[in-house]
Amino acid sequence: MTTLEAPPIGRSVTVKVPATSANLGPGFDTLGLALALYDDLEVTVREQPGATVEVHGIGEGEVPTDESNLVVRSIRFTLERYGVPMPGLDLVAHNSIPHGRGLGSSGAAIVSGIMAAKGLLEGIVDLDSNALLSIASELEGHPDNVAPALFGGLTIAWTAEHGPQHKKLIVHRGVSPLVCVPEHTLSTELARSLRPASVPHEDAIFNVSRSALLIAALIQSPELLHDATEDRLHQSYRASAMPDTVALVEELRAHGHAAVVSGAGPSVLVLCSDPAERLVAAELVAAHRGVAWQSLMLAVDFKGATVNLHPARPSA
Ligand code: HSE
Repeated sequence: MTTLEAPPIGRSVTVKVPATSANLGPGFDTLGLALALYDDLEVTVREQPGATVEVHGIGEGEVPTDESNLVVRSIRFTLERYGVPMPGLDLVAHNSIPHGRGLGSSGAAIVSGIMAAKGLLEGIVDLDSNALLSIASELEGHPDNVAPALFGGLTIAWTAEHGPQHKKLIVHRGVSPLVCVPEHTLSTELARSLRPASVPHEDAIFNVSRSALLIAALIQSPELLHDATEDRLHQSYRASAMPDTVALVEELRAHGHAAVVSGAGPSVLVLCSDPAERLVAAELVAAHRGVAWQSLMLAVDFKGATVNLHPARPSA
């Protein structure tokens, strides 16, 4: 591969990436929703090689601040994919997406890095949406979080022979997400290890019907959300790893709210059919016995990840 020129010293990009909730009940490893809660990042090309990372907010004092940082690794991976040398970089991150809670924080870090690379590469290589999704899925392992983080709205993601694909849909404006976040975390790796090797055929049929219905409920008929969010493919198998989550989901569902495990947990996503229902669900969460939950009333993000390029300032 020919080596292309590195991005110019002084070039700077700002990136904004939404949180996501994957699965949405029946759509395991397929459906995802972008939520209006963001990680912001600024990346500047500098003269000295290597990378520094300044983290504010979520992850401050916890995530690596050198070249092993996930955002830096995603930038490097993307540049190397196009044969572009990694320049020296200064990163400043302002993070709001909770880590280890099933809200797509690792997908958001990966997408932040890829979008930053897209901005840094402007005028050198053009990264289209297929390339963005393909690199993000390769780094994350599955496309259901990274597709909504990249493109916003409700996304259906699948892998075709020619790579990962997505379809973005616009959610009905009544749909009002409530996200309930506990203090404790759960590793996605542990949650994924609890998947069974096979499932009964009738359970597969059950989920096919519910996920088809869920698309209709989310874009057209929110009153169907309770039936449409039933699942038999993943939540019950993972229940032992998140008993508090399951208890909250069960209580909310018993009161008629479309509650599901958000991604691999342990947060709970409630897909309310209007803002009034969301207030009622939030009161139920506040009164719930057991661990404390932080309730976030979040809008659906329709835009997905954005990157803005600030050209290199001419040297004095
Ligand atoms: N679909 C994934 C899972 C989302 O539930 O394991 C978390 O990465």
